[in-house]
Amino acid sequence: MVFSKAQCLVLLLLWNFTDAGRIVMKMKQRVRDVQLQRAKQHLLTAALQHVKEGRIHQQLDHFNRQDAKTFPQRFFVNEAFWQRPDGPVFLFIGGEGPVYEIDVLAGHHVDMAAEHGALLLAVEHRFYGESINADGLKTENLAHLSSQQALTDLAVLHQYIVQSFSLSRRNIWISFGGSYSGALSAWFRGKFPHLVFGAVASSAPVKAQLDFSAYSDAVGLSLMNEAVGGSEKCVSAVREAFGAAEALMIRNVSQVAKDFRCCQTPKDHQDQVELMQSLADIVMGTVQYNEESVLMSISDLCGVMTNQSAAYEEEREPYQRLVKLSQIYRSSSEEPCLDVSHEKTAKDLMDTTVQSERRAERQWTYQTCTEFGFCTARTHT
Ligand SMILES: *[C@@H]1O[C@H](CO)[C@@H](O)[C@H](O)[C@H]1NC(C)=O
Ligand SMILES: *[C@@H]1O[C@H](CO)[C@@H](O)[C@H](O)[C@H]1NC(C)=O
Repeated sequence: MVFSKAQCLVLLLLWNFTDAGRIVMKMKQRVRDVQLQRAKQHLLTAALQHVKEGRIHQQLDHFNRQDAKTFPQRFFVNEAFWQRPDGPVFLFIGGEGPVYEIDVLAGHHVDMAAEHGALLLAVEHRFYGESINADGLKTENLAHLSSQQALTDLAVLHQYIVQSFSLSRRNIWISFGGSYSGALSAWFRGKFPHLVFGAVASSAPVKAQLDFSAYSDAVGLSLMNEAVGGSEKCVSAVREAFGAAEALMIRNVSQVAKDFRCCQTPKDHQDQVELMQSLADIVMGTVQYNEESVLMSISDLCGVMTNQSAAYEEEREPYQRLVKLSQIYRSSSEEPCLDVSHEKTAKDLMDTTVQSERRAERQWTYQTCTEFGFCTARTHT
């Protein structure tokens, strides 16, 4: 989002450095669910039969030979397009979440694999999905969660696949990834150029950055971009709405809590940060997923923010339009109210049990804190 300078001071008071919040994570999971469902409906069952799932036991600590502990790393293989014996290998690198069969069945890299006769692989990142030990989320064990270990996992997997499929130097490897895994793709090529011939790194943040306000700048630019349904008007309305929400929060926090149907009235500064993060997440998530989103597209969002029709007679102010966006979010996600309890967020993050393969927030928070930053505090004018 783009904010005026005057609002910037207020924002810095209210917003801590936090990475993209829970709502963006939830939206990401729902987008993945929908992709998966679509794949299961539309792809031939025959295609699914081509997919093999494998596990490789990786060293937990590649940099300490004394430590013999391992974890099972999951990967998927699709040989359907492979032109044996010399066809290339396309490696889809998983990021901060599970990988699925769909990752070797659909997507641009799969289309290109069909074109180039490639052997398709998708590998899950350590500590995500099923590639984690039962005690993996304990704080002392998170020490083995790092991009450097993950890159070495890729090198070991490379060797394993070369042996299993009797590959030679004639099989050219290309790695693929987007966002964090895009950065891994680029780093993999940078660190092991003898293993990877080329790397595709989509939207890859290859430099660690504490203040990642460039992310918010990109969100603002998208909201302005007419090619995707944005406009100057839209970005101004969003800017104004957030300014108004901030200002009202200072004057009367109960009113804000009521307007946005918060489950709890924010009781302190940190809850206020959660609330603002959730509202920002609705906008960030919409831009991030746009037409893939299960919520709305940029065009829908800008439609709500700038609609001049009589239907919006009651909601002339940008603030009220933002309230409307939050209603759309709640009804689409079937959440009766907006959870703004920081205590609850912190409690969830401190939970060390591996209850579900979808758990990612604790791990990703750890990675951003120890390696990358990527805090989406916005300070732009
Ligand atoms: C704050 O908002 C609440 C909820 O709408 C309202 O009852 C209360 O009168 C407001 N307080 C002030 C000081 O405006
Ligand atoms: C404005 O709202 C009306 C009524 O909901 C809707 O029919 C129309 O498509 C909207 N316009 C835009 C630009 O979204």
